[in-house]
Amino acid sequence: MNSSKESHSNTQVTGKKIASKELLRLTTAGSVDDGKSTLIGRLLYDCGQVSDDQLEEMRRVSEIRNDKKLDFSLLTDGLRAEREQGITIDVAHRYFSTSSRQYIITDVPGHEQYTRNMVTGASTADVALILVDARKGILDQSRRHGFIASLLGIPHLLVAVNKMDLVDWSEECFHQIVQEYTEFSRKLRITDIRFVPICACQGDNVVSSSPSMSWYSGPSLLEQLETITIAADQNLVDFRFSVQCVLRPHQDFRGYAGRIASGNVSPGDSIVVLPSGIETTIENILTADGEKKEAKVNDSIVMTFADDVDVGRGDVIARVGNQPEVKRHFDAILCWMNDQKVLQNKNRYILQLGTQRVQAFVDKIHYRINVHTLHREKKISQFELNDIGRVSMELISPLVFDDYVKNRALGGFVLIDPQTHQTVAAGMIQGSGSEHLYETSSLHKQISSNVTWLERGIDVHMRENRNAHQAQCLWLTGLSASGKSTIAKALEEILFAEGKQVYLLDGDNVRHGLCGDLGFSQKERQENIRRVGHVARLFYDAGFVVICSFISPKRDVRDSVKSLFPLGAFHEIFIDCPLEECIKRDPKGLYKKALTGEIPEFTGVSAPYEEPLNPSLTIQTNRTKPLDAIAQIKDLL
Ligand code: ADX
Repeated sequence: MNSSKESHSNTQVTGKKIASKELLRLTTAGSVDDGKSTLIGRLLYDCGQVSDDQLEEMRRVSEIRNDKKLDFSLLTDGLRAEREQGITIDVAHRYFSTSSRQYIITDVPGHEQYTRNMVTGASTADVALILVDARKGILDQSRRHGFIASLLGIPHLLVAVNKMDLVDWSEECFHQIVQEYTEFSRKLRITDIRFVPICACQGDNVVSSSPSMSWYSGPSLLEQLETITIAADQNLVDFRFSVQCVLRPHQDFRGYAGRIASGNVSPGDSIVVLPSGIETTIENILTADGEKKEAKVNDSIVMTFADDVDVGRGDVIARVGNQPEVKRHFDAILCWMNDQKVLQNKNRYILQLGTQRVQAFVDKIHYRINVHTLHREKKISQFELNDIGRVSMELISPLVFDDYVKNRALGGFVLIDPQTHQTVAAGMIQGSGSEHLYETSSLHKQISSNVTWLERGIDVHMRENRNAHQAQCLWLTGLSASGKSTIAKALEEILFAEGKQVYLLDGDNVRHGLCGDLGFSQKERQENIRRVGHVARLFYDAGFVVICSFISPKRDVRDSVKSLFPLGAFHEIFIDCPLEECIKRDPKGLYKKALTGEIPEFTGVSAPYEEPLNPSLTIQTNRTKPLDAIAQIKDLL
């Protein structure tokens, strides 16, 4: 999730090699005047990470400005100058180290792009540091930081109540803030939340304890950072590895390189390659330091397999029996990050998750979250810059993913605008949305309190995997004698010969049985199509390409059938033929009868036909040969 421009301002001056120390990623967010820069400067200074030159410069500027005290923000605000020169810096990183840990501070400026920046800059943080001005108490901004930190799955929240000197070091004031924020944080998914009263400019409780706040016996801010246990936050259970590249230096070697996103792995483990589902065993694990008997989360490794299986960039390796989802739909919390365009239902994007890329649609916007109140705002038709909310996504082909809470690497994704190639949104997968097909369609609505939907273990995607093709509904609509049945019949035969699971539902045939009780009044035609639509949906669920050939003269009735299907699975195909031509063809002699009034309510003659407004495909049968028509439909598939 890293799309923003970043600046690396390395304020670590010791230059010592500290590779073996545990790395803690800390994110701070907020506006300049809440004392963030001063706090970071103070931390660097008190940890002995400021060079003599920098110190001298700080003294010099403070003197010129006639400051009584040293201005520690000068150490960290160097970037401001770059900003003033017009260089865009969305997120800045600073590095420092103590004897026990090394730190990366990701600093997110608090301007209007703040939400976007926090999502892009802070998504890998271990700790979110939230600064509260003791005089102002909990502001909207403090709540917003906490909320986004919890959305991003940042496991620890450290609330520093700053400027305690300006409230006379008041214990009561501190406790009131603690109480209020604890209350608010109950609504969040953060389990570890700590508070520390500080005065950044004088250094109270930043590194060492404060003589002015003897009532506070807890650890200083740095002591908190030094003791937060982050190793336990790592997912060591669910082995996931995204293949970054295939190494083939010579004929006899084929290795798969990448970084372990979660879990651990050893030679001899049974693994599965996804999405293909091919199983094999790990033969060897290689690292820069040679062969390894075990590798774990965050290790960059090259694996070799016992069998010569087909694996490529973007494939995900997991353990047999503990696999991520492989699906074409999921729900996610999405943060919209573009100010030029808005997100709307049915918009098309490229979804990138790790090394996987797939075409995606926004199937439904469920709600937007008011980041100030945490209320869900429903009936929202679009997301604008910085909006956050829940959506259902539909994908053109299966994606390998986990819930974001289980695995940030396999649960976080970005959406890319196919025209501008800009990253327009960042998302966190929240559930595979297995039931959402039912939720969003009118198909499975509760019809009586005594009837409930039975959830089954086998879904359409499992059937699609077995069939090795997608389930689809091809809906052919058009006048009687327009050529629907001719095309549908030939198409069924061709797809069948290709080994596809295919079935044709034809108007006349269905009216022999299932709909044998129905005539041709508007109401009966509607019931005819309603029944057929549901049968088609059942065939779809069974993994079939179901071809439906029905006059289906009413637009709204066809639309209601379409709504039974997930996005991308239903194709309306208009079999277009001028009425005069149909009358000329008249294979069953029905037009002749209709024109003399022998058949009442005959479509095109004495009953209306509403042409599709936006079909997936239009075939003009007076100009197109059936085989060409079939080729066009197959292109659609
Ligand atoms: S629909 O209007 O309800 O969608 P459907 O596709 O099932 O029609 O059936 C159409 C077939 O029924 C036509 O191909 C034709 O053979 C026959 N038919 C009989 N009466 C009518 C009528 N009044 N209008 C149209 N088709 C009719």
